[in-house]
Amino acid sequence: MTYIDAAAMPTRKTGVIKIHGPEGFAAMRKAGKLTAEALDVMADVVKPGVTTAQIDKIAFEFAMDHKAYPATLGYRGFRHSVCTSINHVVCHGIPDSKPLRDGDIINLDITLIVDGWHGDSSRMYLVGEVPRRAARLVEVTYEALMLGIAAVKPGATTGDIGAAIQTFAEAERCSVVRDFCGHGLGQLFHDEPNILHYGRKGEGVKLKAGMIFTIEPMINLGRPQVKILGDGWTAVTRDRSLSAQFEHSVGVTETGVEIFTTSPKGMHQPPYTNAS
Ligand code: MF3
Ligand code: CO
Ligand code: CO
Repeated sequence: MTYIDAAAMPTRKTGVIKIHGPEGFAAMRKAGKLTAEALDVMADVVKPGVTTAQIDKIAFEFAMDHKAYPATLGYRGFRHSVCTSINHVVCHGIPDSKPLRDGDIINLDITLIVDGWHGDSSRMYLVGEVPRRAARLVEVTYEALMLGIAAVKPGATTGDIGAAIQTFAEAERCSVVRDFCGHGLGQLFHDEPNILHYGRKGEGVKLKAGMIFTIEPMINLGRPQVKILGDGWTAVTRDRSLSAQFEHSVGVTETGVEIFTTSPKGMHQPPYTNAS
């Protein structure tokens, strides 16, 4: 790395979990809000016949129009502004020219960098009329995310988050993907700590006010195992069962938790019909 790179580089992973101040929280509010707005826009875009490449183009243009940069574009060789994960794709689906079909469920995961800070969020979308079991998986996954978020407060642990998610998902006869986790973020895209979506109460890292991270459970209708396709990115369920995911960027406050990526239009979970 040259000295110019060193000067431009935000603080790197140090093994110490960053405690962010009011400026960091303000910056995350801005990045999170814009990311949520991008996901709101997608509610009108996702329908049968639309390709994920078209969705990617709209995500890129949204970022450009708002002086933001898509963090995934050029990230470790990923060349797109959004991850598009359909049906049995667990995460990191690559946009392509294949049209969405009636009955698909799709996760759109967008990370926008605004003034150097990362807002990272994903939601599920229903394409036309989806089977009841698919809609139920999407509901369970949203509920699992929100239960994980509800466990966040100073003095709680990362294990409390994972336990809340796993206990609920498994009671609903679904399984929690182990191979991917939430992550600290801020001026870095993927920072400490790791946020596992399974585990036991009291285990893991103790949460402190000022920590900022994502929670992003991937929940399967079948077994939890995944495999990565030959493209090096696309993660799918080994048993080809349906998978769903929701993601928020959150901060630990003195009293609990702040969600940075709340939908300004109230489009928290599909079918998004109450949106204005
Ligand atoms: N947004 C994803 C996350 O939640 C990361 C995607 S990395 C990519 O952490 F390269 F696949 F885009
Ligand atoms: Co993330
Ligand atoms: Co994400």
